[in-house]
Amino acid sequence: MVGRAIVVTSGKGGVGKTTTSANISMALAKLGKKVVVVDGDTGLRSLDLILGLENRIVYNLVDVVEGTCDLKKALIRDKRVDGLYLLPTAQTREKEAVTEAQMKKLSDELRKDFDFVIFDCPAGIEAGFRNASAGATEALVVTTPDVSPVRDADRIIGMLENQGKKKIHLIINRLRPKMMRKGDMMGVNDVLDVLNVSLIGVVPEDDAVVKSSNDGVPLTLTDNSPAGTAFMNIARRLTGEEVEFLDVENMDQGFMDKLRNLFSRK
Ligand SMILES: Nc1ncnc2c1ncn2[C@@H]1O[C@H](COP(=O)(O)OP(=O)(O)O)[C@@H](O)[C@H]1O
Ligand SMILES: [Mg+2]
Repeated sequence: MVGRAIVVTSGKGGVGKTTTSANISMALAKLGKKVVVVDGDTGLRSLDLILGLENRIVYNLVDVVEGTCDLKKALIRDKRVDGLYLLPTAQTREKEAVTEAQMKKLSDELRKDFDFVIFDCPAGIEAGFRNASAGATEALVVTTPDVSPVRDADRIIGMLENQGKKKIHLIINRLRPKMMRKGDMMGVNDVLDVLNVSLIGVVPEDDAVVKSSNDGVPLTLTDNSPAGTAFMNIARRLTGEEVEFLDVENMDQGFMDKLRNLFSRK
């Protein structure tokens, strides 16, 4: 078996990469896939907290690449769902503690055992980005509909293309329909005008995200919130399922009503 290795990245920090990594990994596991989510944010880890697995960390990714511990020993199995594993990273080490070659080797190892290897990327375009993306052949680029994150996403997309990633998909996170309608915020089409890449999902601003992160329970574990549903749909699309897509061509009132209905559906 050779699983798919996907990096979740953005350029800009704070746009929802870790939230996306956690929710999509959980969603893919719920869809019956065997998934490992790798924390690529050495020194600033947070994926373990968002997944609620922080108390179970003994070994980490740096121990594995340094040969202090077996890969299997460092993996933490999520007991809430079959098939979800976390490979945490070190909190007290620098991003430079790992190399691109080590990450590539790690990814190759993991792909033998898992359907999906998801790398949560740190902010920035330096060592952390290069390491987290080294082992991935596909990318999910996350942006909010704001000018500066979109510009950073554009830059990252260029870098991912240069790395030869075979699939690059865009996620627009924290969309606020009301502000968008008033013209106070970029809409989906505005973002797509700037970023020439295929859209795989739009996630609304949702207070449930904050609570779920604090509780360490990803929304896709229960899947009854607007953002949780959006993340679940992205996971389904990743597996090749055709999920009704938001009509990004017709960003009129009718479209927004449809969007609201979609997101309020339980
Ligand atoms: N769709 C959303 N609705 C509301 N809050 C969100 C949403 N997505 C992310 N957030 C919040 O934004 C903050 C940054 O998210 P995070 O996933 O840590 O970003 P990154 O990993 O890109 O730095 C967190 O507090 C998170 O709870
Ligand atoms: Mg993060």
